Amino acid sequence: MKMKHSALSVLALALLGTSFPALSYDGDWKRGRLYYSNVCSDCHKAKAGGVIEPTSRTKAEWAAYIQADKHAKGKESLKHYFSKPYRDSIKATNRVAAKFADAPDTELIEDVKAFLNRGAKDGDAPAKCS
Ligand code: HEC
Repeated sequence: MKMKHSALSVLALALLGTSFPALSYDGDWKRGRLYYSNVCSDCHKAKAGGVIEPTSRTKAEWAAYIQADKHAKGKESLKHYFSKPYRDSIKATNRVAAKFADAPDTELIEDVKAFLNRGAKDGDAPAKCS
C-alpha cells in the first residue's frame, strides 16, 4: 500500500512539473521571428501577395488578431499554422518547421506573439521582413 501511494505521488508531481513551465512560459521573440519569417511568411510570399510586415499593425491590433484566431479573412483558424500536424506537413521542405517539429504549439504562439509585439509599428523594434 505504501509503495502504491508513493508511486502515485511521484506521478502527481511529474504531472505538476510538466504543467507549470507551460503556464509560465515567456515568449522568445527570436524564436518567434524565425517562425514568422520562415513558416508564416513563406506561405504569404507564395499565396498572400507578399510578406505581411509586423509593422502593418500596432501591438494592440496584433494581440487582438492572434486572440481572435481568424486567419485569411476569417476563413480558418490561425492556430492550425502553429500545430504539429501543419509543421509535419511541411517539414520536409521547411527547415524551421523541422527544427521546431516537437515544440509545443502554445510556446510557438507565445514566441510569435512576442516577435509581433516587438516588431509592431508602435513596438520596441519595428520590424520589416523584406
Ligand atoms: C499555407 C499558407 C499560409 C500560412 C502557413 C500562413 N498564412 Fe497567413 N495568410 C495566408 C493567405 C492566403 C492570406 C490572405 C488571405 C486573403 O487576403 O484572402 C493570409 C493572411 C494573413 C494575415 C492578414 C489578415 C488576414 O487574416 O486575412 C495575417 C495577419 C496572417 N496571414 C498571419 C499569419 C501568421 C501569424 C501565420 C503563421 C503562424 C500565417 N499567417 C501562416 C496564408 C498563410
